[in-house]
Amino acid sequence: KAPYIYYDEQNLMMENLKVEDIVRETGTPAYLYSKGSFLNQLGQLKEAFGQSKVLFCYSMKVCHNRNIAKVFVDEGCGVDIVSGGELYRALKAGADPKKIVYSGVAKTVKEIREAIEAGILMFNVESEQELLRINEIATAMDKTVSIALRINPGVDAKTHPYITTGMKENKFGIDCEMGIDIFQKAMKMKHIQVSGIDLHIGSQLLDVTPYGEAMQIAAEYVRTLRAMDISIRYVDVGGGIGIPYTEDKSSPDLKKYAELITGPFKDMPDITFILEPGRFLTAQAGILVTEVQYIKDNSYGKRFVIIDSGMHHLIRPCLYQAYHNILPVTKKGKAEREVDIVGPICESTDFFAKNRMIEEVAQGDLLAVTDAGAYGIVMGSHYNSHSLPMEILVDRDSYKIIRRKETYEDIA
Ligand code: LLP
Repeated sequence: KAPYIYYDEQNLMMENLKVEDIVRETGTPAYLYSKGSFLNQLGQLKEAFGQSKVLFCYSMKVCHNRNIAKVFVDEGCGVDIVSGGELYRALKAGADPKKIVYSGVAKTVKEIREAIEAGILMFNVESEQELLRINEIATAMDKTVSIALRINPGVDAKTHPYITTGMKENKFGIDCEMGIDIFQKAMKMKHIQVSGIDLHIGSQLLDVTPYGEAMQIAAEYVRTLRAMDISIRYVDVGGGIGIPYTEDKSSPDLKKYAELITGPFKDMPDITFILEPGRFLTAQAGILVTEVQYIKDNSYGKRFVIIDSGMHHLIRPCLYQAYHNILPVTKKGKAEREVDIVGPICESTDFFAKNRMIEEVAQGDLLAVTDAGAYGIVMGSHYNSHSLPMEILVDRDSYKIIRRKETYEDIA
């Protein structure tokens, strides 16, 4: 996608480098990321929110490489974490603990202790038992811990059913009606500082209107709490802004998104919004580059393009029937034909594309799977004892290997 990932005549480029030149040096499979694209996406969000009081917390689950988290941390972002492992990575990336928010339904005693020790900004609490546990640990450590309750607003984000989170049947957050009571209990806990409310209605929203409904509910909620002398400083809106994976879609209206979020709180100028963007920041910056190993035809007229990457490196097509564009790294000007693009894993779900029209490719050619920078390598596995791809960060005229090729020793 211009101007960070584009064709220069027949060559796929990332920033000022030919993708082919990079991977002929490093090998495949490899995730390549454009630093310029990361910064551009963040810039768009910042611009949309203008002068509003907003803390952007990079949702590092989308792409947890610490070099990538560092790109956002260096721009002043906080980090949204969901495990002790992510806390560790965030701190290694140089994140300011006072800008770390911690969500997740199953925080263990060890994880809670570590986060208190690190001095994070707040826990996004997802159940009453979790609240009790945090209070117990905080008491034992003689610390006061700041929390938000994650409220489930019961709003339909109208996205893929596997990635909605704010509906009644989802495991996330606390039932809206039960929340008030739990807030009151939290207020009475000596080692708990009630600071905010939190919600996250789902992921990959291209139409931002569901935020309107959710934020109306949130604002009403905060008013109710304030009337009970429960002070709320932070409204954490979670993540969810989507990207157009297909040409017929367009990027969400960020200005409208910002207005829907801040609008209902116009009469509460002391509120700071926390945003946890993930996909929007990284998805479009990343491509997964893979080499064609074999071409196989069958007598039903089907052609399989068999590559050195698959569902163990990018599970989105298999898990969500997600569409990712697949481009030749070097165009050869051949006619297009219909193929299935499949990987090495011993599962029929191991495909990147079915019945896809692409320029005819041959053994040894390179293909790039686009929009792979979010929920790509992080959802990868060592299934069938394959190693994970390398990761490479491209910055204008140079690149850096930010995750080396794994050896058998690493994974065995
Ligand atoms: N905050 C919370 C509490 C979340 O659960 C998530 C994502 C985010 C922020 C970041 O959301 P984003 O801005 O990226 O939409 N693996 C799926 C998506 C799962 C989303 C999980 N939660 C996919 O590949 O589409």
